[in-house]
Amino acid sequence: MTVRRLLPGPLVIASHNEGKVSEISALLGSYGIEPVSAGELGLPEPEETGTTFAENAALKALAAARGSGMPALADDSGLCVDALGGAPGVYTADWAEAGLREGGPGRDWYLAMGKVEGKLAELGPDAPRTAHFVCMLALGWPDGHVDLFEGRVAGSLTWPPRGKLGFGYDPVFVPAGRTQTFAEIAPTEKHAISHRAAAFLKLVEAAL
Ligand code: IMP
Repeated sequence: MTVRRLLPGPLVIASHNEGKVSEISALLGSYGIEPVSAGELGLPEPEETGTTFAENAALKALAAARGSGMPALADDSGLCVDALGGAPGVYTADWAEAGLREGGPGRDWYLAMGKVEGKLAELGPDAPRTAHFVCMLALGWPDGHVDLFEGRVAGSLTWPPRGKLGFGYDPVFVPAGRTQTFAEIAPTEKHAISHRAAAFLKLVEAAL
């Protein structure tokens, strides 16, 4: 199936996360794309009911495209740990949400990183510590057409967490070939090698 081309003009960024919207806007601004956030348009956030990154990215992109009548871009991402059978995977954000459900302060990334480490420790000291981040981008259209672009970055998990930069699981993820965690690497450098960068490169090559 051929990828549908995105022409200069408005593109809905199907996310209510300000950080994601500004990062995506910066990446696409130079192609004549005019990013509009789903929040700005008052579009509701659909429930992420899929069991794969592709399903969740597609459902978010299509909901925004159908709701706005414009093409829409969504991203779904997460951390997959080999020894845990790919977990937390699509549930990466949920593993940090114990606080939310209990009426607590919201997502707690240290709790989430600790959960991953606890499960690895249960497997014993010989369990492989390899992992990868996945970023799935979905470009959806009001007629239901959707194109997917996947990026990955391989690495391994370290403990205890190190570094203050980045977000989410960055302090425990050491990309392959490096010794520093994503939270110790300058953002510009992280953005050059990240799963999100790899997915964007595919989108730019195929759709722009
Ligand atoms: P999403 O917003 O539903 O796609 O959730 C993805 C989750 O994966 C985020 O909340 C982060 O915890 C995690 N994640 C994705 N990309 C990164 C990254 O580059 N660094 C650290 N954590 C990430």
